[in-house]
Amino acid sequence: MRHATIIGTGSYLPDNIMTNDDMARLVETSDEWITSRTGIKERRISTGETTSDLAYEAATRALSNANLDAKNLDLIICATISPDSFMPSVACIVQERLGAINAAAFDLTAACTGLIYGMAIAASFIESGMFQNILVIGAETLSKTLDWSDRSTCVLFGDGAGAVILSASDQKEGIMSITLASDGSKQDYLCLPAIPLSNPFIEKGEDVIKPFITMKGQEVFKFAVRSITDMIKKLLSKANLSHNDVKYVIAHQANQRIIEVAAKTLGIPNEKFFINLDKYGNTSAATIGIALDEMVQKDMLQPGDRIILIGFGGGMTSGAILLEWS
Ligand code: COA
Repeated sequence: MRHATIIGTGSYLPDNIMTNDDMARLVETSDEWITSRTGIKERRISTGETTSDLAYEAATRALSNANLDAKNLDLIICATISPDSFMPSVACIVQERLGAINAAAFDLTAACTGLIYGMAIAASFIESGMFQNILVIGAETLSKTLDWSDRSTCVLFGDGAGAVILSASDQKEGIMSITLASDGSKQDYLCLPAIPLSNPFIEKGEDVIKPFITMKGQEVFKFAVRSITDMIKKLLSKANLSHNDVKYVIAHQANQRIIEVAAKTLGIPNEKFFINLDKYGNTSAATIGIALDEMVQKDMLQPGDRIILIGFGGGMTSGAILLEWS
């Protein structure tokens, strides 16, 4: 059977570091509050690079890591909630810049679960035999979606991009199992409005819709813990494995406390959960790709290692992938 396996990873973060102390000069907050509630110490904030710039850099590094020519890509998927524009898509802009002339390209919106949804779509295309090589990118400039006077949200997020290249393989390694879910009844937990309805048939209202992220923090926290615990149980039972058979879990990097509560509930040691949110904050669709690439750069993954990737976020959406590293 054809499997989808990861043959390359890449990531890119803007150079500009914004620490918690920098944040405290902007809003009424402190390093102590942010660190103790979230684990975040600093984040990267773009000083001019767009989402497609970050996506392109991450994609270039993933191609080089995979030793693959961009012309061999069949599809580019970019997961983002902060595209440069609704059209052209970030994926099409990246396709042109890479010279990936044989690739189809589109963006997808599944918020912080975006990379997982993208990898799931890519795996299906590969397993069906339709495509051979697919680039999946998670890229965000969330800094442009933040109300920088709202301390309850602006301290949490950052900019960045992560990318993976999935390829067809006849070996048993690669993606073993996938689970995806959505719960639209919780759509008001995390919101980022787009262009409001406006045409000659609509009376102009007084309300001005602000293009900023709003969030019900405590509800999101509970949803996130539940998603991680439910998804891990589901994936492991589907594969007939226990958590002892898994080397690492890469959960969406939103909040260290979310990960610790989930780990405790599942009885999985904290050390199995990779953490780098202290350096980058929550970069939405980008966190899992950035984390995976950091692990690759640090040589933490060996052939045969089983790892779980888990995303959760606005929509609400959630999803997880069990894979065997090759
Ligand atoms: N600095 C200082 N104080 C802050 C603050 C900040 N950055 N943000 C909020 N506060 C204050 C609140 O105003 C509130 O003050 P009050 O008690 O005087 O009203 C107090 O801290 C507690 O606020 P609360 O919202 O109850 O805090 P919390 O313990 O729930 O922590 C989050 C807030 C956002 C850290 C937490 O809810 C969380 O992490 N939720 C998940 C968010 C997330 O991960 N979103 C993305 C998912 S993809």
